[in-house]
Amino acid sequence: MTTPSKTATLNYDGKSFDLPVYTPTAGPDVIDIRKLYAQAGVFTYDPGYTSTASCDSTITYIDGDEGILLHRGYPIDQLASKSHFLEVCYLLLYGELPSSFQLEDFETRVTRHTMIHEQMHNFFRGFRRDAHPMATMVGVVGAMSAFYHDSLDVTDPWQREVASIRLIAKMPTIAAMAYKYSIGQPFVYPRNDLDYAANFLHMCFSVPAETYHVNPIVARAMDRILTLHADHEQNASTSTVRLASSSGANPFACIAAGIACLWGPAHGGANQACLEMLREIGTVDRIPEFIARAKDKNDPFRLMGFGHRVYKNTDPRAKVLKQSADEVLELLGVQDNPLLQVAKELEHVALNDPYFIEKKLFPNVDFYSGIILEAIGFPTSMFTPVFALSRTVGWVSQWKEMIADPQMKIGRPRQLYMGETHRDYIDIENR
Ligand code: SDX
Repeated sequence: MTTPSKTATLNYDGKSFDLPVYTPTAGPDVIDIRKLYAQAGVFTYDPGYTSTASCDSTITYIDGDEGILLHRGYPIDQLASKSHFLEVCYLLLYGELPSSFQLEDFETRVTRHTMIHEQMHNFFRGFRRDAHPMATMVGVVGAMSAFYHDSLDVTDPWQREVASIRLIAKMPTIAAMAYKYSIGQPFVYPRNDLDYAANFLHMCFSVPAETYHVNPIVARAMDRILTLHADHEQNASTSTVRLASSSGANPFACIAAGIACLWGPAHGGANQACLEMLREIGTVDRIPEFIARAKDKNDPFRLMGFGHRVYKNTDPRAKVLKQSADEVLELLGVQDNPLLQVAKELEHVALNDPYFIEKKLFPNVDFYSGIILEAIGFPTSMFTPVFALSRTVGWVSQWKEMIADPQMKIGRPRQLYMGETHRDYIDIENR
């Protein structure tokens, strides 16, 4: 932690309390309240953590007002156009862009960990065929703790490194197996001659009966989707991984917790929920009905794929994905897909509607990723698993950073208690 740059003074109950203030390399100052309860006997209150920094980090920076997203200082649009997913993984994990030797070594290490223990295949067969692939991923990733005993000890840097590589390498294999199982097709083993994104497409879409050729444009779009979803500061699922890891739990169990959190429709589940919403709208002429519902305070309906807790002008990832969506749709000749027509019109209407402009609601990363994944041929149930396999590197990078932080303590928030105070038990005959 840096040294305080200034002091904030809290006046409470006739007393003054000086609180250290830290100035970051980018973003707002933070007021250190760690000693507030000991000094003033009060808690702060911030449900949803809208104004709370849970940690210090050097990995990713977001400026929600300017629509800026940096990974180790590099802007996301430059990484999306000039880099590729595994190089971004290296950057997130180790802090610098790799040399060609470092990159080749890293890619080889990941490639050689893409297979999963053969006995783990039995886990998939324990699920119903119609299980959501995210349910399967939560289960199988958590079960990695039962197989990879040589990378469970979080106090051993070597074991942390091995667990990191295993998680990044095996997540596409597990996601693809969850998909294959759900459609009753045989599992497809990874191929070491394919790059990360192409390998994932191969494991999802090839069948033993014929040779599968990965379309390079589709593979590039897939790689870009993975790059754009890799990390995003202390979002809900990353904070879940950090909190679970703060107890010293093994990395596989903590990443399984992150997958579970990401599944929610307000978070990573939004890409699936967005496509399902587009299906429910069905035709362009029904868009006004749904726009009205989104504005109706008495209707819980929200436009899925719109809005963001931090971005209040534009989601820089969405801008890049929008270009990819146009490319892929044209390549695959599906610009006329009615679902995608509805998406384009919905985007236009929402971006010009005073309600959405005033509330700063615009298409986010999940709006466009769902469109591309639909065009590539994934069922909506596979949209969030794709998000999870990308975000694994973000979770792992943040986990490694936290575990190595000497300030790391078990996370243990307090509360504003509004329940009953002391009362004595009443025997049932007297109730
Ligand atoms: C991701 O945190 C991250 O970084 C997440 C993520 C990542 O990479 O990890 O970026 C990935 O999760 C992207 C977001 C995906 N979720 C969705 O697309 C679901 C739909 N969006 C909403 O649920 C909502 O916008 C959130 C959850 C994303 C953000 O909600 P906030 O910031 O908590 O804002 P809010 O719920 O307090 O809403 C503010 C106002 C409310 O109206 P008022 O109470 O002020 O009158 O805006 C309205 C909301 O009703 N509103 C919407 C809306 N989102 C917010 N109204 C209609 N449609 C929406 N989508």
